Amino acid sequence: MAAAPKILAFAGSTRTGSFNKKLIKIAAGGAKAAGADVTTIDLRDFPMPIYDGYLEEKSGIPENAKKLKKLFLENQGLLIASPEYNSSITGVLKNAIDWVSREETDDEPALACFKGKIAALVAASPGALGGLRGLYHVREILANITVLVLSSLVTVSRAHEAFDPDGNLKDSKKQQQVEKQGADLADALKKMTR
Ligand code: FNR
Repeated sequence: MAAAPKILAFAGSTRTGSFNKKLIKIAAGGAKAAGADVTTIDLRDFPMPIYDGYLEEKSGIPENAKKLKKLFLENQGLLIASPEYNSSITGVLKNAIDWVSREETDDEPALACFKGKIAALVAASPGALGGLRGLYHVREILANITVLVLSSLVTVSRAHEAFDPDGNLKDSKKQQQVEKQGADLADALKKMTR
């Protein structure tokens, strides 16, 4: 039997009470139900400075960025729930992508963390578009660094009233759509990495 596909799941927000941290749990549940081995992390546990080329030259890649890189390298799939800030990617998500894209050694292949990866994206926002505009930018950035991003994007608008006390979506159809994003990622990985 083929090994379970490995997925790294996280939100593009570090905020306590983040809607996207709730959403990633739902999407990760869908991926697990489809047979994936999912590691869910909180970017707050990997604090790192804003990328600065001088800092990198003087001190190298920060320890937390190295830890995050290791997790990227260990997983074949990326499942991301991210809000949009000013219609685009959040600073915390872009900063994490920028740091893990850096090479630790001279012989490390470029973009080693992203080569051969498949990603699926979801978003939640209190606004009417649910963070969709941000996901377009996340998709473009990841695609430009060699990640195959599943074309379907699932968003949850009016996020402040969308979740029940257990962290599930009150709208059962939307709950299924978010779970399906995780399941579709697991299925794509099974097909493309066997
Ligand atoms: C936002 N927010 C926001 N929402 C949106 O739908 N479109 C947007 O362009 C923005 N822009 C924006 C900029 C900045 C700097 C902040 C702090 C917030 C609101 C955002 O969606 C809201 O704070 C979410 O709750 C953030 O997601 P988490 O932290 O709940 O996952």
